[in-house]
Amino acid sequence: MSGGGFAGLPGQSGTSASEMPPLVRTPVPAPSPEDSHPVSDPLPFPRPEARPQPRSQVATEAPEAVVPLGPTGRPMPTFPEPRPVSGTTRARVVSMCNQKGGVGKTTTTINLGASLAEYGRKVLLVDFDPQGSLSVGLGLNPHEMDLTIYNLLMQRDVTLDEVVVPSGVPGMDLLPSNIDLSAAEVQLVHEVAREQTLQRVLAPALDQYDVILIDCQPSLGLLTVNALTASDGVIVPLECEYFALRGVALLKQTIDKVCERLNPRLEVDGVLGTMFDGRTLHSREVMDRLVQAWGDTVFHTVIRRTVKFSDSTVAGEPITSYASSSAGADSYRQLAKEVLGRWPAE
Ligand SMILES: Nc1ncnc2c1ncn2[C@@H]1O[C@H](COP(=O)(O)OP(=O)(O)OP(=O)(O)O)[C@@H](O)[C@H]1O
Ligand SMILES: [Mg+2]
Repeated sequence: MSGGGFAGLPGQSGTSASEMPPLVRTPVPAPSPEDSHPVSDPLPFPRPEARPQPRSQVATEAPEAVVPLGPTGRPMPTFPEPRPVSGTTRARVVSMCNQKGGVGKTTTTINLGASLAEYGRKVLLVDFDPQGSLSVGLGLNPHEMDLTIYNLLMQRDVTLDEVVVPSGVPGMDLLPSNIDLSAAEVQLVHEVAREQTLQRVLAPALDQYDVILIDCQPSLGLLTVNALTASDGVIVPLECEYFALRGVALLKQTIDKVCERLNPRLEVDGVLGTMFDGRTLHSREVMDRLVQAWGDTVFHTVIRRTVKFSDSTVAGEPITSYASSSAGADSYRQLAKEVLGRWPAE
């Protein structure tokens, strides 16, 4: 044996007495299984915590069912096919809410609504934004509307049926809006029970529909408080982009206040990551932060960034009909299944 290797072990020769090893050595404990590591990987340096591996990549003794990770970094469940609706329960009212603009509230209202209608739900969309994007996105001309939700809110003699129009999607209707609604925010301030105005005018729709989706404007003002007061649930679309995380705390505070003071049945149905781009580290990091902050409230379904959404808006129809077999359409169908799984049984 050469002089390298196990120098100093008993029975090996040294060059002088002073270099001789002691005769009795402290026994070296046998390495525990944790200490053993392959020669090619000799340094037990602390490492950054590894991202969870898809179970398919983790070596296990017996092959287990493979549960692939979804885009949120959690195992992706399979969502059951929605059951036919009984039609006897009152509608579930849900607001799309985020005071940040351009995060996908209107796109989600249109396409989640259309997907729920495909699953046999009778859906009413409420355009509650003076920008009227929901109405325009479904092909309406804001200058050619006789009656809008403004009239319904402010004129006692106008009924829901007079204002509701078909959306062009079978099973889905629309309460349209235009810039007139901006006046309501000012006028409602002087009303008695001003926060409950939308709830009052939507009451007759509860027996006619299975789902009512309210598209909020990008603010936390009186119109949004009205929407939250009228709702059972709120969905928070969030663009997968760093600045989107700012302001979420304020939104949560507003939801909590409405829940405490005006509407104790209000719950957060879910946070939806939109405009996700899985190729960028940035999108994935933002998604990680979302899951850290909101846990299982974050939907497993995410909506990826695709230009098809803008194209379908120009065409004035949901992506589920404009590009029915596109990935974007499938994502909203999946969201519909996930949402139905979270709501109480109809
Ligand atoms: N997943 C997506 N990928 C690419 N573009 C998208 C996606 N979702 C929405 N968009 C586009 O982004 C823009 C803003 O979307 P949208 O109008 O739905 O947001 P919003 O939150 O309702 O905005 P606002 O706060 O102004 O009402 C639109 O042009 C829309 O077509
Ligand atoms: Mg909008």
